[in-house]
Amino acid sequence: MPILGIETSCDETGLAVVERGRVLAERLASQADLHSLFGGVVPELASREHQRIIAPLFGALLNDAGLSVRDLNGVAVARGPGLMGSLLVGIGFAKGLCCATGLSLVGVNHLHAHLLAADMEQRIEWPALGLLVSGGHTHLYRMRSPTSFDLIGRTLDDAAGEAFDKAAKICNLPYPGGSHVDALSRGHAPDPKLFPRPYTDNDNLDFSFSGLKTAFGQLVAKRPHLRLARLALDDRDIGARLPGDVREELGMVLASLSLAVAETLTIKTARALDTFSDAKCLVLAGGVAANTMLRENMAALAASRGLALVAPSPRLCTDNAAMIGYAGEIFLASGLRHDLSLDAVPRGRI
Ligand code: KG4
Ligand code: ZN
Repeated sequence: MPILGIETSCDETGLAVVERGRVLAERLASQADLHSLFGGVVPELASREHQRIIAPLFGALLNDAGLSVRDLNGVAVARGPGLMGSLLVGIGFAKGLCCATGLSLVGVNHLHAHLLAADMEQRIEWPALGLLVSGGHTHLYRMRSPTSFDLIGRTLDDAAGEAFDKAAKICNLPYPGGSHVDALSRGHAPDPKLFPRPYTDNDNLDFSFSGLKTAFGQLVAKRPHLRLARLALDDRDIGARLPGDVREELGMVLASLSLAVAETLTIKTARALDTFSDAKCLVLAGGVAANTMLRENMAALAASRGLALVAPSPRLCTDNAAMIGYAGEIFLASGLRHDLSLDAVPRGRI
């Protein structure tokens, strides 16, 4: 029977009805345009916006699915990590629903759900090695089973997504910048020497991306024409509006940044596969997993080891409620559930 998934950990209000890994209906209300005005997520505004929209969005979702609350079998909600106020809106809504109907409640770790997302489209073979790359996290996991993951590497400072977002901000591209960097990079040959492969000259599985942002800032300071005039929020084809030579140079610089991020992630993931050689597949997850160059590099790495790359389609890479519903299905089927004392864990990790 169907499970309701609720995602409110950051700036997307997501609701989905999932049954045996299939999405019956999904609604996603993005706040990106609102936060873009401030160049990043404003937590207070995010929670108010979730609060404003979640109940009407739920009504619309049930309508889309042709279901009533009585047709649901449980409620899965992201309990963290994320913004405290935003998480509390989703958890409060989930508890209210369970309190009124007696439905089972399960709190889901947002990172765990990201890593399971690809299993909805392509089967993960266990044990697997997982790289989670998002706006707040860059984590390597040994994924023992659908419910048991061990953290084996992490970023010491900025996440991979932050490297993209901060570089985009330096160039005045809209927030969040990762998808714009990706789009503007496409079709441009990167210069592999333009940026470092930070924190790879060691033998551990951790990452450090803050130096890349600094290197990018220093390069743009020497090429101030790459700091674009502030762009309209709804501009989806920025490249077409730039003078040809700026478009070319920006494309090359952003492609070089993308290559530096992709190769840095690939070097450490290859090392993790050397260490955990029983992995049966390589899982790539999180918003940055939508990145073209990263997907190409990870596909080549997986192929070189005779492994399948299991990476979700772009709509399942970024924050969404379908992945929360699917993780909830797996937890509920394993007998895991929470009572109404479920709390948010804003800085939780798997
Ligand atoms: O997983 P996610 O939607 O939210 C978090 O849990 O953080 O990831 C958002 C991050 C942002 O940093 C965004 O810029 C980045 O994913 N992102 C991308 C792409 N699409 C989203 N980064 C690089 N290339 C993309 N195509
Ligand atoms: Zn996320």
